[in-house]
Amino acid sequence: MTLAKKLLFLASGRGSNFQSFVDHIELGILRNLLIAGVVCNQNRAPVLDRARKAGIQTFEIEGVTGKKFSSPEEREEARIAFDKQCLDIVKSQSIDFVVLAGFDQIVSKKFVDAFPLKIINIHPAYDLKKFGGKNMIGSRVHESVLSSGVEYSGCTVHFVTGKVDQGPAILKRRVPVLPGDTGSKLGERILLEEHLAYPEALQLLVEGRVLVSDSGDGCFVDFYSDNWDIFWYERQCAYIDIQSKQKRLHE
Ligand code: GAR
Repeated sequence: MTLAKKLLFLASGRGSNFQSFVDHIELGILRNLLIAGVVCNQNRAPVLDRARKAGIQTFEIEGVTGKKFSSPEEREEARIAFDKQCLDIVKSQSIDFVVLAGFDQIVSKKFVDAFPLKIINIHPAYDLKKFGGKNMIGSRVHESVLSSGVEYSGCTVHFVTGKVDQGPAILKRRVPVLPGDTGSKLGERILLEEHLAYPEALQLLVEGRVLVSDSGDGCFVDFYSDNWDIFWYERQCAYIDIQSKQKRLHE
């Protein structure tokens, strides 16, 4: 029997991406993978309630976002202290992958170097060179996509490296920009794709189907051998079905 790989989530807010993993596991879509805990840097974040409801342990750690520091050095020290606590959890819980899901802090170089190619992020844009980086979070990303006039956006699941949002991409999905779009309308459509893409990328990863190129610029992803893609989409239909029903309820 294969031992399940353990995920540790780092999140700060709503937690809908986290919830999509919980649902994919409950529906038997994601296999050989379990959520060992959620680290949260915002004590009122809805993701904490979602985790408690799913019976997943939470770690509330005071973060650096929105806090005033007397110098950039002091801020960096606080960030490193936060990340050290995360690394302690990674070690004590034998975590295989750290999953950033709406986490509003930049991960320190120390953390990235200590756990190379094991920290994954999702970003709500297709072109991360143009629409990724330090201050590109949530609605800011979509507003900037709309004002640039590009025809499509989307989402990208990528490895976290020392360069914010520029690590090798594992999976991307496109979402067209529609006439009359607003940042929030575009963001909502992208979020639905995120909920499908992020679990898929993690399943590929835990099955050893993702290989980072020697140059470190991108990944080779084996979607197709042994009909992996067919089996995945057949299983994921159960989630898409629920997603569509929820969407119709909100319309
Ligand atoms: C998601 O859209 C995610 O891609 C984005 O924050 C949202 C979190 O939603 N992340 C970033 O912008 C990272 N730069 P969630 O809390 O409902 O998963």
